[in-house]
Amino acid sequence: MTAQRDTPRIAVIDGDGIGREVVPEARKVLEAVGEFEFVEAEAGDAVAERTGTPLPEETRETVADADATLFGAVGDSAADVVLPLRDVVGSYVNVRPARAYPGVEAVRPELDLVVLRENTEGVYAGHEQRLSDDLSTLTRVVTDSASRRLAEFACQYCEEMGLESFHVVHKANVMRETDGRFLNAVQSIAAEHGIEAEPVLMDAMATLMSLQPAEYDVLVTPNLAGDVLSDQAAGLVGGLGLLPSANLGPENAMFEPVHGTAPDIAGQGMANPVACVLSAAMLLEHLDRYDAAEQVREATEAVLAEGPTTPDLGGDATTAAVGAAIRDRL
Ligand code: NAI
Ligand code: MG
Repeated sequence: MTAQRDTPRIAVIDGDGIGREVVPEARKVLEAVGEFEFVEAEAGDAVAERTGTPLPEETRETVADADATLFGAVGDSAADVVLPLRDVVGSYVNVRPARAYPGVEAVRPELDLVVLRENTEGVYAGHEQRLSDDLSTLTRVVTDSASRRLAEFACQYCEEMGLESFHVVHKANVMRETDGRFLNAVQSIAAEHGIEAEPVLMDAMATLMSLQPAEYDVLVTPNLAGDVLSDQAAGLVGGLGLLPSANLGPENAMFEPVHGTAPDIAGQGMANPVACVLSAAMLLEHLDRYDAAEQVREATEAVLAEGPTTPDLGGDATTAAVGAAIRDRL
C-alpha cells in the first residue's frame, strides 16, 4: 500500500490506563511475525501531567516519520491526542470491523460488518463555542471533498470484497444541509462505481443493527454516527475488548482498539488484549504483510474459541496470559 523502509518503522504509543497493558501484548505479537523497528512515543494524561502537554511535538514527529503507528488509548486528553494524531497521518477514514467469534457469547452472533467512519469533520471538527453563561454552540462541518473521499474508499472496499452495495448512514431529514451534502456526495461517487449506496437514517440504523444484523456488510457513516454505531456493534458481539480500528491516510496510518482507557479495570492486568492485537493485524495489512496478518487473526480466533480469555469474556485469564496464548499459536 505504501512505500516503506525495508524494515518498517512502527511508532508505538501505549497512552494511559489499559493502553499500557494491551499495547505491549500486541507489540510482542508483531515481533513474533516480522522484523520491525519500534519507536516508542508518549501521549495522554500522564505525559500531560509531567510536561504540560498531552501530545508532545516529538510524538507528532515520530508518528509522521513512521510507516505506521500502534496506539493504545488515552484518558481525558483523548480529544487533544487522538484527533490531532488522525490529522498527522492524514486519516480520512476510520475502518472499524465488528464481528462475532465462535466461542464468544454474543447478543447477535450473525453480526459481521464494517463501519467506515468519516474521520476528519462532522461534529468532531473542533468548532465549539461558549457564547454566554447559558449558551454553547457547535458547528458541524461537512465537505464534499471529505465525503467523496470516504465514498471512494468505500467503493474500493466493496469492489475488493465483491459487494455490490453498501449502506450510507445519515440524518439528512433533519440536518438537511450538512447530511444532505454528505448523502449526495456519497451516492454520486457510488453511482460512478456502479455500486448502490442505500440510505438509512442513523437512529433507525441503531435499531436495525440490533434486529437484523445479517442485513448489513458495510456502513458508511459521518464521524459521530460511526463512533456510536461501532460501540453498539461491539456490544452486540461481546464487548469493546474485541473491536480493532484503522485510521487510514493516503500513506501513513494509525491503528488502535476502539475502546478507551477503561479506568474501571486499569492496572489489574485483566484487560482483553484482543482488540489491540487485531488492530496490529490491520497494521500488518497496511504494511502489505497479508500472510502475517492472517496468522495473527487465526491465532486470535483460536484463542477466543478455546481460551484462555479475560473476565470480560467470562474467563479468568490475565492480559499477559491471553497475549502469550495468541503468540503460542503463531
Ligand atoms: P472505555 O472503552 O474505556 O470503557 C468502557 C467499558 O468497556 C468499561 O467498562 C471497560 O472496562 C470496558 N472495556 C473497554 N475495553 C476493554 C478491554 N480491552 N477489556 C475489557 N473490558 C474493556 O470507555 P469509557 O469508560 O467511556 O472511557 C474511559 C476513558 O477512555 C475516558 O477518559 C475517555 O476519554 C477515554 N477514551 C479514549 C479513547 C481513545 O484513546 N481513542 C476512545 C474512547 C474513550
Ligand atoms: Mg468511541
